[in-house]
Amino acid sequence: MNFEETQSYNQLKKHAVFLSDTKIKNLFATDTNRFAKFSRCLGDIVFDFSKNLIDEKTLELLSKIADQLHLSERINDMFDGVKINTTEGRAVLHTALRNIPSSGPINLDGKNIMDDIEITLANMCKFSDSVRDGSFRGAKGDRILDVVNIGIGGSYLGPLMAVEALRPYKNPLINFHFVSNVDGTDISEVIKKLSPETTLFIVASKTFTTDETMTNAETARNWIVENLGDNAIAHHFCAVSSNVDLAVKFGISPENIFGFGNYVGGRYSMWGPIGLPLLISIGTENFKSFLAGAKSVDDHFRSAPFLDNIPVLMAFISIWNINFLGVTAETILPYDNYLKYLPLYLQQLVMESNGKSITRQGERIRNYKTCPVLFGEVGTNGQHSFYQLLHQGTERILCDFILPVLSHNETGFHQQKLLANGIAQTEALMKGKSEDEVISELKAQGLNDMEIARLLPFKVFDGNRPSNTFLVREITPYTLGALVALYEHKTFVEGVFWNINSFDQFGVELGKQLAKRVLSDIQSDSPTLSHNYDSSTAGLISMVKDLRK
Ligand code: F6P
Repeated sequence: MNFEETQSYNQLKKHAVFLSDTKIKNLFATDTNRFAKFSRCLGDIVFDFSKNLIDEKTLELLSKIADQLHLSERINDMFDGVKINTTEGRAVLHTALRNIPSSGPINLDGKNIMDDIEITLANMCKFSDSVRDGSFRGAKGDRILDVVNIGIGGSYLGPLMAVEALRPYKNPLINFHFVSNVDGTDISEVIKKLSPETTLFIVASKTFTTDETMTNAETARNWIVENLGDNAIAHHFCAVSSNVDLAVKFGISPENIFGFGNYVGGRYSMWGPIGLPLLISIGTENFKSFLAGAKSVDDHFRSAPFLDNIPVLMAFISIWNINFLGVTAETILPYDNYLKYLPLYLQQLVMESNGKSITRQGERIRNYKTCPVLFGEVGTNGQHSFYQLLHQGTERILCDFILPVLSHNETGFHQQKLLANGIAQTEALMKGKSEDEVISELKAQGLNDMEIARLLPFKVFDGNRPSNTFLVREITPYTLGALVALYEHKTFVEGVFWNINSFDQFGVELGKQLAKRVLSDIQSDSPTLSHNYDSSTAGLISMVKDLRK
C-alpha cells in the first residue's frame, strides 16, 4: 500500500486545498506559539519546521497515514534484520554498525552479526592507531603521511564528507586525499604531489569489482610497484570490502582487509569499514562518538511517537510539500564551510535510495511523485548563485538550512554574520516582500511614480516558500553522526510512504553495461562498429575514434 491508498489520504488532500488559501506568514501572525509548537530538540540539535504551510491537523493526518502504512512495524523490521531489500533479498542493517557497545544481539540467518562487527571495529581501531602513532611503516620504514582513499559512490562520498566536516579533529600529521573518478586526472593530480614511501592507499569497494575503483587501484599499485618494488604492496595498501577474496587476490595482506556484510548498502556504509579514512583522521574515541551520535538517533527513531520523532517529521514535511503542495526539489544549505560535501553526500543517499518509479510490488507508479531532485551549497556562497530561483523562480523548492551556532574558527564577527544570513534567508523565503513594502522602499529612495510602477513587479517577493532549519550547537563527531542518521531515517520513511524499496539501485546498471560495449568499440582498430547503434551514439563513437588516432 502507498500513502494514496490509505483511508486518511483524501482528508489530507482536502486539507491541503483548505490551507492553500492562507500563507505561512498568516499562520505565524495568528499563533505566537508557532515556533514552540513546530520545533523539536534532540540533544544539541533543534529542528524547526514551523516555516512550512502546515498546521496541527496536517501532522495529525500524516501521522494517521503513517499508522495505516504500519510505519512502526516497518521501522522494527529494518532494525530487526527482516530482509526488507526484497529485490536483492537482503536485510538492511547499517544501524548494527553503530550499535556500539552492542545493546543486544542482532540475529541474521541464525547468527549474531554484532560479534563480527565488534571484532572488525576493534581491528580497524588497532590499524588506525598504528597509522596515527607511526608504528605502521611503509616498505622503506617511513611513517605514513598521506592516506589516499580510492572508492566511488558510497565508498567515497561518506568518508569525503565526514573527513572534511570533522577537519578540526584531524590528526595534524596525516593528510587525506580522495580519488573516485575514472578520469585519469583524478589520480594523477593526487599522486603527483605524494611520495610513495609515505603513502597508504585504502581501496574502498563493497564489491571490489567497481570499474572506476579497480582502474584507479591498479594505477596506484603500478605506481607503488614502479617506485618501491613488488613487495611494497602489502605495506602501502589496505582494503575495505565485503569481497575479501578479491582484495586478497589484489595483493593486500589479509590482516589489512576490513570486511562487512551485504546487509550494509554502499550509501549507508560509512559507519563501518568504509569509514576507515575518518577513523584514521579523527581517532578511535572521536569515531566512536560519531557512531554514538547516530545511535542516539536510531534509539529516538525507534521509540519516539511520530509527532515527536524528528526523522519521521522530516519525512512528513517533505511528503507534504512534494505530494500535496507541488514542491519540485529540495536543497541542502549548510552554513558551515566544513559541511561543503554534505549536499553531495545527501544527493547519493536520497536520490539513489528513492529516485524510483516502481512499487515494492513491481508496479509502475503513475499517480504521485517520489524523490525530488536534491542539490545544495554552503551558505553564504549559494546566496550569490541559485538563491535567486529559491526566492523568485517558478519552481517551489524545500530548503533545509543547517546552522551550527559555534564555529571551530571564531574570527571577528564572521560567525555572527554567517548565522544572521542563514536565519534571514529563512525569514525572507517565508515572508517575502509585499507590493506596499516595495512601494514605500522605492519612494524612500526618491523614485517617481512611473519608475516605481515599472520596477514594482520585479521587486516583489511572493514569499510563502517552505524551509526547515536545523540549529546545531557545534559540529562535533557526535552531532555529525546524529545529523546524517536523521537524513537516513527520513529517507526510509519516505520510501514507506511511496511504497518503494529504498535499498536497491538498479538504475545505475544500464549505463555501466553499455559503457563496456562502447569501450570495446573505442578501443577497436576496426572502423566498423560492433553494434547497430543509433546515429548519434555511432557518430559520437566514430568521432572519438578519429580524434584519438
Ligand atoms: O554505482 C552505484 C554503486 O553501486 C553505489 O551504490 C555504490 O555506493 C557505488 O556504486 C560503489 O560500489 P562499491 O563500493 O561496490 O565499489
